[in-house]
Amino acid sequence: MSLPVLAVNELAMKFGNSEVFKNVSFSVEAGETFGLFGKSGSGKTTIGRCIVGLEKPTYGKILVQGKDILRMGKKEFRELRPKVQMIFQHPETSLDPRMKAFENLIEPLKLHSGLKKNALLERGEELAELTGLRPEHLARYPSHLSGGEIQRIVLARIMSLSPAFVVADEPTSMLDVSVQAQILRLMQKLQKETGVSYLLISHDLEVLRRVCHRIAYLEDGTITSVENIKRGINT
Ligand SMILES: Nc1ncnc2c1ncn2[C@@H]1O[C@H](COP(=O)(O)OP(=O)(O)O)[C@@H](O)[C@H]1O
Ligand SMILES: [Mg+2]
Repeated sequence: MSLPVLAVNELAMKFGNSEVFKNVSFSVEAGETFGLFGKSGSGKTTIGRCIVGLEKPTYGKILVQGKDILRMGKKEFRELRPKVQMIFQHPETSLDPRMKAFENLIEPLKLHSGLKKNALLERGEELAELTGLRPEHLARYPSHLSGGEIQRIVLARIMSLSPAFVVADEPTSMLDVSVQAQILRLMQKLQKETGVSYLLISHDLEVLRRVCHRIAYLEDGTITSVENIKRGINT
């Protein structure tokens, strides 16, 4: 069997004297949507932040494509960084309010792809189409976009970096139920087309059961069980 895209081994986190979680272990396969369920305050966001390198756990290992991100050099981590992306619960915080939607969409490409202007615009338009954004959305500032439109821009930006792995932290919790379903379907379509893996974090079991291949339950500071979902709609 090939290496999992992500393996978390015995992760533990303390803030001061308070231990948020310990002995958290799981792995995520290529093309898999792995759910992380837990109540508010159980440590889900902290686990996600550790995986993308925004927080340092007090103990444990995080292997991305077999490499330990906590023990790699700065240069190696910088090269790996675009492959591991995170969608935050408040997606608008990822966008620059002074830039129109399209400028926001192509910003990571500008920084990382080395594409020249015309190729950059073309790729940006492709990504907009892929994520269901129309030209009228692209000409607006983030403050004039709906939550669902913002989440599409965030997904387009992330997919522009061809990630192997995306931590999606409550990506639909701010959205109306019908828009929630659209964004989950879009994430599934992107997964089918690119083979990206997701760690989908949510306190909403219904959302997780709809799209995840497996769900881990974070309770009392550790993972108490992992459930196989045989009938996720993308299996
Ligand atoms: N930087 C931090 N410093 C101190 N405590 C923190 C910090 N980040 C999170 N916590 C605490 O860790 C616990 C877990 O938080 P969090 O990971 O946000 O949980 P969840 O996403 O499951 O709601 C909470 O009690 C929170 O207050
Ligand atoms: Mg959280």
